[in-house]
Amino acid sequence: MGGILTIDRKQFIETAKKSAGGRNVIAVVKNNAYNYGLEFAVKAFGEAGIHSFATTSLDEAKRIRMYAPDALIFIMNPVRNFEAVYEYDLHVTLPSPEYYYEHQEALSGVNVHLEFAGLFNRSGFEDASAMIEVLEHQKSLDAGKRMNIKGIWTHFGYADELDMDEYGIERGMWQELLNMLNEAGHTFEIIHAQNSASFARDGLLDGHTHLRLGISLYGSRPYSILPEADYMQSLELKAEIVQIRNIKADQRCGYGGSYEPGHDSRIAVVDIGYGDGVLRKRAAFDCLINSRRYPIKSLMMSHMIVEIDDDVSIGDEVILYNDEMRIDEFTAKGVGANSEQLGALNYQSLKKVILNDSGIHQ
Ligand SMILES: Cc1ncc(COP(=O)(O)O)c(C=O)c1O
Repeated sequence: MGGILTIDRKQFIETAKKSAGGRNVIAVVKNNAYNYGLEFAVKAFGEAGIHSFATTSLDEAKRIRMYAPDALIFIMNPVRNFEAVYEYDLHVTLPSPEYYYEHQEALSGVNVHLEFAGLFNRSGFEDASAMIEVLEHQKSLDAGKRMNIKGIWTHFGYADELDMDEYGIERGMWQELLNMLNEAGHTFEIIHAQNSASFARDGLLDGHTHLRLGISLYGSRPYSILPEADYMQSLELKAEIVQIRNIKADQRCGYGGSYEPGHDSRIAVVDIGYGDGVLRKRAAFDCLINSRRYPIKSLMMSHMIVEIDDDVSIGDEVILYNDEMRIDEFTAKGVGANSEQLGALNYQSLKKVILNDSGIHQ
């Protein structure tokens, strides 16, 4: 079967509420809502009071419109299918002057957010003067031909790196850009820049209307010195033991004899592997069986081998992630970013269970 991914809906909503702290939030729900499930997440965020969403995918944006008819939906990637933008009433990024001049006619009436490249530099205008040129060009057009310039945004690529100075630099560049636009008479209804780490570090920055949060809404700490209680995880990943075997000191097991205990040992063969989304680096650490930690010794596509003792039996649950084995614990141990561990989970092969408000499996 390949593991069971369980999400506690009530906890998910509480975590999102706490993380948003009553502020306006655009929830980042790209990549199937960090693999919590797009429909589940959009509806649950709605109950947490979050009604704005950002994704990189037009297909996801269309689905969000089905789940949240009145939501603000922002596409962070440049979009070229403008029919869909009108039909689904989407907000889109304006990523460069070149894009603007190429699509100027199609953009008329579209809700756009100007994007600043900053140090992250994946996309966006390079400076205030390039933005002002476009803004002035808009003013020169008949009202019916103009875009709806709703917002302005950037992404801080260094906010998660506590040991680097660049975050302060990119934040300064962004604030200077906003000041220059302001002085030139350009103000915006929606201003958003901060991801989870930036918000945890600085609170909502002056003049900003929205946060644009991902990982903290999903219950992982953007960096490990933050209190766990402020970021409660609502997810558990577990799998069944399908066999228990005794391995002699001179035996090996797994592909290419990958597990070579060198002593008599007892192992559990567990029904989950990298094909289900367990990262190889995650398998360098422990799992939890009956509330005790046991070492994972080998990872295959559909199985993993755990060294156990006599206290473990067939039918015991093997837990890879839960409240005690938090995703962010393994981020801090170098397994990969929180979103990398979540994003790897195979939504097709894992069985998904949502615990609803009364604790009943759906
Ligand atoms: C453009 C953009 N904004 C916001 C976020 C949310 O970041 P985080 O999950 O760190 O809160 C992401 C995530 O990758 C992103 O790409």
